[in-house]
Amino acid sequence: MRNIYTFVVLVVALVFCGCGDATPVIIKGENYSFSAESGMIHFDEPQRAANQQSMLGYAAAPLDVVRVGFVGLGMRGRDAVSRFTHIEGVEIKALADLVQRNVDYCRGYLESVGWPQAEGYVGEEAYKELCRRDDIDLVYISTDWSSHVPIALYAMEQGKHVAIEVPAATSVKECWQLVDMSERTRCHCMMLENCVYDFFELTTLNMVEQGLFGEILHAEGAYIHNLTEYWDAYHDNWRLEFNSTHRGDVYATHGLGPICMALDIHRGNRLEYLVSMDTKSVNGLAIARDRMGVTEFANGDHTTTMIKTSRGQSIMLQHNVFTPRPYNRLYQLTGTHGFANKYPIEGFTFVEGVLPAELLSEGAYVDQHNFLAEDVKAAIMEAYKHPIHREIEDVARRVGGHGGMDYVMDYRLVYCLRNGLPLDQDVYDAAEWSSIGELTATSAKHNSMPVAIPDFTRGEWNRLTGVTFHTK
Ligand SMILES: NC(=O)c1ccc[n+]([C@@H]2O[C@H](COP(=O)([O-])OP(=O)(O)OC[C@H]3O[C@@H](n4cnc5c(N)ncnc54)[C@H](O)[C@@H]3O)[C@@H](O)[C@H]2O)c1
Repeated sequence: MRNIYTFVVLVVALVFCGCGDATPVIIKGENYSFSAESGMIHFDEPQRAANQQSMLGYAAAPLDVVRVGFVGLGMRGRDAVSRFTHIEGVEIKALADLVQRNVDYCRGYLESVGWPQAEGYVGEEAYKELCRRDDIDLVYISTDWSSHVPIALYAMEQGKHVAIEVPAATSVKECWQLVDMSERTRCHCMMLENCVYDFFELTTLNMVEQGLFGEILHAEGAYIHNLTEYWDAYHDNWRLEFNSTHRGDVYATHGLGPICMALDIHRGNRLEYLVSMDTKSVNGLAIARDRMGVTEFANGDHTTTMIKTSRGQSIMLQHNVFTPRPYNRLYQLTGTHGFANKYPIEGFTFVEGVLPAELLSEGAYVDQHNFLAEDVKAAIMEAYKHPIHREIEDVARRVGGHGGMDYVMDYRLVYCLRNGLPLDQDVYDAAEWSSIGELTATSAKHNSMPVAIPDFTRGEWNRLTGVTFHTK
């Protein structure tokens, strides 16, 4: 009797300690599961259907003139309309928004600059009529995040190339939908990641390609932008609502895009897995309580993510749109021979012997503890200016859009379409950079467990070698 009593106590103790529980830990979401073998959460990766082909390096037939329809004419969309009036070989055929006033505003703008008038469409599904027009080549989407993918899928289904504001998609499933539709219809699907074209980033990319930094080992990027002044400006409060229901780095692409270019992601390298940790929500919750009366808020005030690449590099990403801090995208590259940093101080550091002597002014101080002197930095920025900037910097700075990078992006999109060239950013970039939202949310939800980053190229991430900005 006493033995049986001891046995029962032992079993109960073991069960309560967890040591006697032989059931494996099972983590399973709607479209992901934990693999004990890899020690990571993996999202389902659908097979490529027989009627699809890879879009890597894809070039569509050249277009004499790029005929554009704009969907979403709020803060961002209306600026795009105005930038396009400064690009040669463009016709603006149609404009769609939920709000008549926004359509009228853009039509008024076209009239004021003497451009031919564009047809206006108003309403939730009015974009469908726009997409069905047979005189449009490109649908340019600047709506709220949740409507990007439905609009883009419909447009590609109608045979139109699409350009989608950031992030292109809000879930891993949506990322696959973009990839599959683009592969099936052979329509370009580019995400409008403007930061890739900023002056410091593109100059630095040129320097990376010339080997100045040696081997890049670590990179950092961020979207740290206090949005207090902006929350009221978004149509129907869409952005705060999205943040109130979505955890993770929901706006990762400005930080990640330029880094992926510098690291040749899916051009010989790939993002393998990430771990993510967020803080509790304090300011986000307070803002949402004020505006929406909610008592819970999903997005942490500050989210930090680490990503490992197949070349053994690490990337740190941060997202914070809630606390008082100076604007910061970090953009930092740590290489074996050099270092580049954009925010909060723009500068470079190199080991001796890397920079050509003619760039070093008399007595220029070069050591490995400090940034190079300002005059040397200026000389570097001039010497390694990217050929694209060399060609259109003046007009880009004049037309503007975040200092000119928005114009460079639109110009390149139109240039590649007109010349039948592969676009600078393909649908796999759009999917990889946008998928970070749900992947980081999933890691954070499971106490920062590693989450594998899907290979949206389906095994072809090594086929292209390096980033190419094609020219005729
Ligand atoms: N790349 C950048 O630097 C940058 C900067 C700001 C915003 N953005 C992106 O641009 C997009 C728009 O942001 P915003 O700041 O202009 O927001 P916004 O709220 O000012 O504009 C969104 C517009 O989309 C319209 N819209 C929504 N659903 C629609 C539909 N079904 N059909 C037609 N129109 C529809 C709304 O009426 C509104 O005018 C977002 O994806 C955002 O992330 C990018």
